[in-house]
Amino acid sequence: MADIYDTFRDIGIIPVVAIEDASKAADLAHALVKGGLPASEVTFRTACAAEAIEAMVKAEPDMLVGAGTVLNVEQAEKAVKAGAKFIVSPGYNPDVVDWCIANNIPTMPGISNPSEITACINKGVTHLKLFPAERKGGYKIIDDFGGPFPQCTFMPTGGVTTENVSEYAKRKNILCMGGTWMVKKPLIEGEKWDEITQICKDAVKAMHGFKIDHVGINTKDEADAMSVADTFEAFGLAKKVGNSSIFSSESIEVMKGKGRGTMGHLSVICNNIERALAYLKQFGFNPVMETASYTGKKGESPMKVVYLDKEVGGFAVHLKRV
Ligand code: 3PG
Repeated sequence: MADIYDTFRDIGIIPVVAIEDASKAADLAHALVKGGLPASEVTFRTACAAEAIEAMVKAEPDMLVGAGTVLNVEQAEKAVKAGAKFIVSPGYNPDVVDWCIANNIPTMPGISNPSEITACINKGVTHLKLFPAERKGGYKIIDDFGGPFPQCTFMPTGGVTTENVSEYAKRKNILCMGGTWMVKKPLIEGEKWDEITQICKDAVKAMHGFKIDHVGINTKDEADAMSVADTFEAFGLAKKVGNSSIFSSESIEVMKGKGRGTMGHLSVICNNIERALAYLKQFGFNPVMETASYTGKKGESPMKVVYLDKEVGGFAVHLKRV
């Protein structure tokens, strides 16, 4: 079974839900799943939170449903009894953390400064919610936390939106992002399920940040590659000769011979390759693992480049971490 924190990373955005009427929870769950965000942090800000968790789990059994705004052990117990798979709190409460550890329940306490992070680390808890993220410095404070706390990953919430989610998503010490922007109260109360689905889809797209980086062109051999690159110079594309290819500007890679793909390859930039691979699976793409390279030590650091196993229009595709 996949590690729950891998699931957090793969889904990437955890909708933070405050629901007043548990009878709407099932439809909300369906809308989120349809939008590509099969997760929910159901907050104990409303009286029916536990009931809503139960309804969501029943409606979408594969969805990652947990509880948020858990302020005490009693709420944590209630949430887990209702089917919550994880416990999130806006702040650090040692009692809740101890209870989760004792009961083997994944928990993400809220932190906003180094002292709170230290307290969590000393409990062995290293996946943390940063709240309120934007007011505390956004992705910049997360970069700063990466120095003294390399063992931690963060889930920023509070002010994260489709507009800024990409900046968070590309950071190595971000596990996932969270927020209410796709499940605002009027949307739930007005039963705007299609609108919720659409906001989720837009958020997913923004989170991945897919962009064409360069096109790779296959040639016969080195001499052929040189002549192609020389021709591109007519368009003002300067040559940069490498070992196995020649770059004509940064947008065209002329391969010295037959590279991957019938015609060549497309290099697609994304914010996080592991997360992109989880997303692309639904379209039948899988990684060719022997082509993977890493940002640091293999097994300890994220992927930098990997080819996919399916061509598009005669082109092989490789993902490249931004
Ligand atoms: C939370 O509980 O995590 C925040 O309320 C989410 O913040 P947002 O409303 O700015 O998305």
